[in-house]
Amino acid sequence: MSVLEVKGLRKAYGGIHALDDAGFVIDSPGLYGLIGPNGAGKTTLFDVVAGTVQADAGSVCFEGENITGWPSHRRALGGIARSFQECRVLPEETCLDNVLFAAQPKGLGTCVRQLVSRSNAHRRRVTDEAMRLLSLVRLQGHAHTPAAQLSFGQKRLLELVSVFMSAPQLLLLDEPASGVNPALLEVLSDFIRTMYAEQARAFLIVEHNMEFIMALASDIIVMHQGKVLERGSPPIVQASPRVLEAYLG
Ligand SMILES: Nc1ncnc2c1ncn2[C@@H]1O[C@H](COP(=O)(O)OP(=O)(O)OP(=O)(O)O)[C@@H](O)[C@H]1O
Ligand SMILES: [Mg+2]
Repeated sequence: MSVLEVKGLRKAYGGIHALDDAGFVIDSPGLYGLIGPNGAGKTTLFDVVAGTVQADAGSVCFEGENITGWPSHRRALGGIARSFQECRVLPEETCLDNVLFAAQPKGLGTCVRQLVSRSNAHRRRVTDEAMRLLSLVRLQGHAHTPAAQLSFGQKRLLELVSVFMSAPQLLLLDEPASGVNPALLEVLSDFIRTMYAEQARAFLIVEHNMEFIMALASDIIVMHQGKVLERGSPPIVQASPRVLEAYLG
């Protein structure tokens, strides 16, 4: 059973074909890159897999189940998490509260059960885990600082910690390295590698920073004009004339 199978995805915005028969399979846990020139359809593909945008045609299967019609909250509960290209954190909340909020099971039923049955010990365990992850990205000293006071790169790291707190089965990261200064890039890639070593799930990472993604991912999917153009190991993709042409053209 594959982790993710997208087939024949189409999505048009007016005359723009953001997705034009896009399809690929992710068979097993791993670090996967999703690259392509601006406007290739990468974020739209994430929107469709996460369920925030409905495709015009095609299907999305997650762990053997056809989830094409599922709303985004059901997919999140099922184990699909994402970060956003423009980076989303709760600016007024402290870093720790941002992470604790992300760790809460969503849905009224689960919240009520949590209030009734979860013990102080459980809350302490979750807080300890949040602090451990914050320290992995060197934000432990900012745990009680409102997120608005962080640098842009630190906000990205905070968003990442928040998405990893739910230990998703499938994680979609949209340009995690964008706007992150070189000093923090290593912290970022080390963090993703550590999370992969601990969680061993499927991480699909959109990135324009080629050095970053080629060093991190073992399997790269290349999109161009709404389609999958190429797929393979970093050396295969980097040597592909089609890929070169797509980027240059
Ligand atoms: N909500 C929308 N309304 C109209 N057009 C859209 C919308 N979302 C995406 N598009 C268009 O669809 C195409 C694909 O966009 P998408 O954001 O998926 O590309 P991308 O590969 O993520 O690009 P980038 O690398 O610049 O983030 C683009 O031409 C974009 O302008
Ligand atoms: Mg995008």
